[in-house]
Amino acid sequence: MKKVSRRGFMKAGGLAAAVATSEIAFHDGTAQAQDATVDEAIGRTTLPYPATNILENVSEMAVGEVRKFSYPDQESPCLLIKTGQPAPGGIGPDNDIVAFSSMCSHQGCPLRYDAEERTLQCRCHFSIFDPEMAGQMVCGQATVNQPQILLEYDEEGDAINAVAVKGLLYGRQANIL
Ligand code: FES
Repeated sequence: MKKVSRRGFMKAGGLAAAVATSEIAFHDGTAQAQDATVDEAIGRTTLPYPATNILENVSEMAVGEVRKFSYPDQESPCLLIKTGQPAPGGIGPDNDIVAFSSMCSHQGCPLRYDAEERTLQCRCHFSIFDPEMAGQMVCGQATVNQPQILLEYDEEGDAINAVAVKGLLYGRQANIL
């Protein structure tokens, strides 16, 4: 077995430490850059996503009618509603078509639209949200409004695109894909 002098041992140790330190610094730099991106995303509750066509022949929608779709991905069920009243974020010929995540902001149960009451309702713990007031919570155990899906109306094609999410989708730490 080759003997290593105390000086040699210290030198080798110092080199290893230097390599380790530079690797840590390298990983640290990359991690910091990633953290900064994630931090920036975490701080935002409204994020643009790729525009997705969710409905054609918009003008054929009747008041009170509801269409289901998913946005921004297949794990995110949403409801498109023609309320019959102009609403914040409302689009279409009458500015009365709005869309919301259909996962309740309280614990993610599915919401349904009550066309008579013109509200979104959750049967799990009875929260109620107002789609004509940007998803504002009316009552129940939820503590935040229902996330709204921002829409664009293509007048020429009579079509609707989903383009962004306003509010944090249930079960996510940030609105990132
Ligand atoms: Fe909707 Fe609790 S999950 S009120």
